[in-house]
Amino acid sequence: SKGGYPHYMLKEIFEQPRALYETLIGLIEDPALEEAAELLVNARRVFVTGAGTSYHATLVFKHYITGMAGIVPIDFIASEHPEYMAAVSHEDVLIAVSQSGETTDTLQAVREAKKRGVKIIAVTNVIGSTLSRLADVTLYTRAGPEIGVAATKTFLTQVLTLQLLAARVACKLGVIDKSDFESIVEKLSSAREAARSAERLNPHIKALAVILSKAQSMFVLGRLLGAHLAREAALKIKEISYVHAEAYPAGESKHGPIALVEEGFPVIFVGTPGVEKKLYSNMEEMKARGAKVIVVGVDSYEDAPADYKVLVGSYDETLAPYAIMPPLQLLAYHMAVMLGYDPDKPRNLAKTVTVE
Ligand code: F6R
Repeated sequence: SKGGYPHYMLKEIFEQPRALYETLIGLIEDPALEEAAELLVNARRVFVTGAGTSYHATLVFKHYITGMAGIVPIDFIASEHPEYMAAVSHEDVLIAVSQSGETTDTLQAVREAKKRGVKIIAVTNVIGSTLSRLADVTLYTRAGPEIGVAATKTFLTQVLTLQLLAARVACKLGVIDKSDFESIVEKLSSAREAARSAERLNPHIKALAVILSKAQSMFVLGRLLGAHLAREAALKIKEISYVHAEAYPAGESKHGPIALVEEGFPVIFVGTPGVEKKLYSNMEEMKARGAKVIVVGVDSYEDAPADYKVLVGSYDETLAPYAIMPPLQLLAYHMAVMLGYDPDKPRNLAKTVTVE
């Protein structure tokens, strides 16, 4: 049931605080977390894969585990797996991320890697899914069923699961000690509060959706962690509002894409902590070309040279995704509704893609 909400997507966006909390509680009691970390510290190389939103979760994981544990995983889009198969061996580990655990592209990547002896860690929301049956170790997200076609709560629970895994690996490698690990777990328990940004900012986001739903096209830019979140935000906007939104790492926008920017062209900046100064200069470049500059970011973006600011609260890198993503999902939702589309059932899309 939609629990009084007009659409499942809206309900699922607002369910994120609870989904994150249940995922965290479930994982800290699950021996699979330790088993997965054990596989990773002994791996020659770590590969990560997924499709769509789940692929974006792997990019966020790459950001965290590189910073926390000094391991740089090799990420690939599941359907592109053939390009990587010649490089994998039985000493490697593949982390496959799939909400449904039934996406054909992801299952094929896993089957091909398994044939080559690669150990598989699954991250899925569905107990007993095909992916979990193929995997050596499964980490479950406990988002509850996601009915809306657009992945929302499953994305952030994947991010949390992978972030916890990264911390566990860092701890096993001795990069952080046990008390540091405990404080990361403690901090992640605040992901719940962070994700309440959606409720608090809803009127603000609705007003922004009025402006953006008139656009034909827009950019979504960020740096580092923010570049990955930008990709996810652009996917949400495209798939349910049918407005073209394209994500780039902000620095890269100068190398071609900026040619599209003219008077009134919307550019959304995803304001993650630590890259304020550089994003401000990207904002100035865009403004100089007449762009309508929007920032959705943590409170340290208060002085951003933007036309429209959505400040999600004061969060560091660990918690920023949980506060920043829900308002961006909500933006896609309101744009779709304002344009007269059903956000739960976008055209041409299935919840689970079981064809190649
Ligand atoms: C986007 C979306 C899709 C899925 C993709 C993978 O909102 O829902 O991009 O993320 O089809 O699905 P799973 O995670 O089930 O493998």
